[in-house]
Amino acid sequence: MVSSFHRDDLITLARAHRRRKLLSPVGRDFSSNDYLAFAGSQSLRDAAVEAIDRGVAVGSGGSRLLRGNTAEHEALEAQAARFFHSESALFVGSGFAANSLIFATLPQPGDLIVYDTLIHASAHEGMKLSRAPCSSFTHNDVGAAADAIDRWRAAGGKGTPWIAVETLYSMDGDCAPIEDFAALADQVDAILLVDEAHAAGVYGPGGRGLAADFLGRENVVSMVTCGKAFGCEGALILGPAVFRDFLLNRGRSFIFSTAPSPLIASVVRASLGIVARAEDRRERLRALVVEAGRAFERFGFAPSGTQIQPIVIGDEARTMRIAETLQGCGFDVRGIRPPTVPPGTARLRMSITLNSGESDIREFAAALARLL
Ligand SMILES: Cc1ncc(COP(=O)(O)O)c(C=O)c1O
Repeated sequence: MVSSFHRDDLITLARAHRRRKLLSPVGRDFSSNDYLAFAGSQSLRDAAVEAIDRGVAVGSGGSRLLRGNTAEHEALEAQAARFFHSESALFVGSGFAANSLIFATLPQPGDLIVYDTLIHASAHEGMKLSRAPCSSFTHNDVGAAADAIDRWRAAGGKGTPWIAVETLYSMDGDCAPIEDFAALADQVDAILLVDEAHAAGVYGPGGRGLAADFLGRENVVSMVTCGKAFGCEGALILGPAVFRDFLLNRGRSFIFSTAPSPLIASVVRASLGIVARAEDRRERLRALVVEAGRAFERFGFAPSGTQIQPIVIGDEARTMRIAETLQGCGFDVRGIRPPTVPPGTARLRMSITLNSGESDIREFAAALARLL
């Protein structure tokens, strides 16, 4: 018998204008995270063909701890550690998997996880599995994070605090004061967990991200996704070797899961080199961000200053209507609703990538202004 719970839940979601559906990418790209336009690039296709010609396998055939650990995984991790100036790197199947693994495995029962209230769903997923207590702090508020740790210490907390932030927030396009969080971590003997999903490849020297200066420290663990600016898929966990070793000994989703494709590992390795040399693309993206800022200001929207530009509408049904109208005009922009974003802040998430140009951005801003 078909479950009535599931059907009813979908009806409830539809009534609340929250029922999700899959759409194909149509029109000019204002929604992907393919910031440097590498996902469909000839250079990554060539890397894939070269790897296939070398005999690299498509499937790993098993967990990394069984027969699934290939030379491609190890070569990627060695190169990533060198590139990011980190003591070690661990490659996993996605950023979501990486965050679930980190949060579920590293913090221990006597520790405390303090996390930015806007942190990604994948970190929440890991925290649900974690044995450490968790406490959120106001977005980007270093003082609030410090207060939460002080309160916990005053109440007898003896373990390690873990401070979890993103460097560039995926739905707001704003950046964390990462130097201040790193300083706080030093002050209070905490470990800083940094999610560089939207910053890696785009910012920092060679695209090493906004936390590049802090990698290599004993108290910093960073997560870089390979499916966004790097144009592939998977994620790298970067940090002290002891954490890598701990994850592969104690991380259930690492131990009991098939290793990512060796072919993809090989393409990600090529992508690290390609992205490192892609200063021209980073510069073009920066120029587009400036152009978008100008176009947006002209129409009275506050520019975020990064490649992620939220246009907060508020009402969920109206947000989705506007998104659909823009899609109908050839602009592939998507509406984002609660619970992905806080209640009352449904928005269009405009993503600026090299897949669209200056004139596309100006036309998009003008179309949006007409609709609003
Ligand atoms: C901040 C952040 N962290 C992690 C992830 C998950 O990464 P992936 O898409 O590789 O699973 C995302 C995905 O959009 C993200 O925005």
